[in-house]
Amino acid sequence: MATISWSEDLSVGVHILDADHRLLINLINKFEEAIESGAGNAKISILLDGLYDYTDFHFIREEILMRACGYANVDAHHLVHEKLCAQMMEIRKRHASDPSDALNAEIREFLNSWLIKHIKGQDLKYAPVMVDKDLEIAKAHASLIHQYSEVESAESTDVF
Ligand SMILES: [Fe+2]
Repeated sequence: MATISWSEDLSVGVHILDADHRLLINLINKFEEAIESGAGNAKISILLDGLYDYTDFHFIREEILMRACGYANVDAHHLVHEKLCAQMMEIRKRHASDPSDALNAEIREFLNSWLIKHIKGQDLKYAPVMVDKDLEIAKAHASLIHQYSEVESAESTDVF
């Protein structure tokens, strides 16, 4: 199965969210490469954990920025995120309890399609309301980083 890649048509117009999407694509590709190279279940399990954790963080960040910019459909978008997180959690649990080639094939199918589908089907809808909202985005992002790190630093705004 081929790896997936980010392209400009997937841009939601917010640098930090595009960067998240590119990072998630890299993590998905690492899973793909691990399967291709016959990596053991321990490594695959670590990759799935990392992918889940970063996806969860990304969804929180995305929802906070959508709200800060006044996007009307955040609640519906949140439900889609919740469903995706639940699917990924289920995958992790199944892999932890009974890893198999068949399950890995199923996970590959899921991982190789969900993110691109989600960006195209959901995320691009909020892109128009994020235009010219650099200040709102920076403020909301600074607050988010503060919550996570409890230390506001100048670095938290460097991502813009
Ligand atoms: Fe999303």
